[in-house]
Amino acid sequence: MINVTKAYLPDKEKLFGYINKIYESGWLTNNGQFCKQLETRLKDFLGVKNLILVSNGTLALQVAYKALNVTGSAVTTPFSFVATASSLLWEGISPVFADINPLTWNLAPENIEKAIKADTSAIVPVHVFGNPCDVEAIQKIAQKNDLKVIYDGAHAFGVKYKGESILNWGDVTTLSFHATKLFHTIEGGAIITSDDELARKIRLLINFGITGPETIECVGINCKINEFQAAMGLCVLDEMEEIATSRKKVWDYYRSNLPANLVMQQWNLHSSQNYHYYPVLFESESTLKKTQRAFNNEQIFPRRYFYPSLDSLKFSGNTSNMPLSQDISRRILCLPIFPELTTQEQQQILKILSAYQ
Ligand SMILES: Cc1ncc(COP(=O)(O)O)c(C=O)c1O
Repeated sequence: MINVTKAYLPDKEKLFGYINKIYESGWLTNNGQFCKQLETRLKDFLGVKNLILVSNGTLALQVAYKALNVTGSAVTTPFSFVATASSLLWEGISPVFADINPLTWNLAPENIEKAIKADTSAIVPVHVFGNPCDVEAIQKIAQKNDLKVIYDGAHAFGVKYKGESILNWGDVTTLSFHATKLFHTIEGGAIITSDDELARKIRLLINFGITGPETIECVGINCKINEFQAAMGLCVLDEMEEIATSRKKVWDYYRSNLPANLVMQQWNLHSSQNYHYYPVLFESESTLKKTQRAFNNEQIFPRRYFYPSLDSLKFSGNTSNMPLSQDISRRILCLPIFPELTTQEQQQILKILSAYQ
């Protein structure tokens, strides 16, 4: 069976070395030595000022909204994983969708301004499949309308824009370290900000608002990661270079051998790739479905990602259709991409793709 992705498992002996140390210390969670080490190493690796590890990418978004006092509504993209919108709803904030750019698949700045309402307090764009948004235009809109910007950077691990980390844009950027992500801690995530005071507040919020053994400053929640997760992260981080090289090889092979009529995402010209996903756009939903059935018959499971478009979810409270996002959602398929995918398996995938074009 070939799935769209496969969780990366680092060197077992190295991981057991960390686990032995966890047993020796008896310290399992609550900002332990491996959590601290991982935060420092990730900060350096990514080139960001403050990085706070949390238990997943969804809570990273929720804590970011709380820390920035986001209320009322937030303008966001309908073309994302459900957590981008559901995290807003969970916090009592209404997602107001603005349609995407049909080439980059990111939130289109010209649609953001039109979507802003009297109670809008934030913009929540997503760097879709790691492709940087038009961050300069979004910053201008946010400044002009006094809005906070929270980037959902769940896919953007390691991506550089104009030579620097894309994760430094916005008031906050969040990451997901789920097992299927490029870098992972089994489950996990991070909140990134250049604002030291905000970082301090976030640290409080993720640990019940506790400031000391006998002091509690504010209402908080529990989003800590444990030492076993941090150990996994430290091991995976050691192997990022090999992971990137293998993914690039798979990515390049698709790129050179794809049927010509399949459309790819238009990548931001000023930025690097992280080879996280390999999405392709079909001419029609019916071609996609036929191809998907052929894949499944061969035990190959690419994923319709993102489908459905979030504006079509009844519970989103949305009342206006987003035709561009709906169109892309119906025609997009993410092909299998992970370090161990062999050229032979890719050839099998490409053969099926070609047969249905
Ligand atoms: C764009 C996006 N945002 C948020 C999330 C949520 O992250 P997590 O699964 O770590 O909660 C995901 C997860 O796949 C995602 O793809």
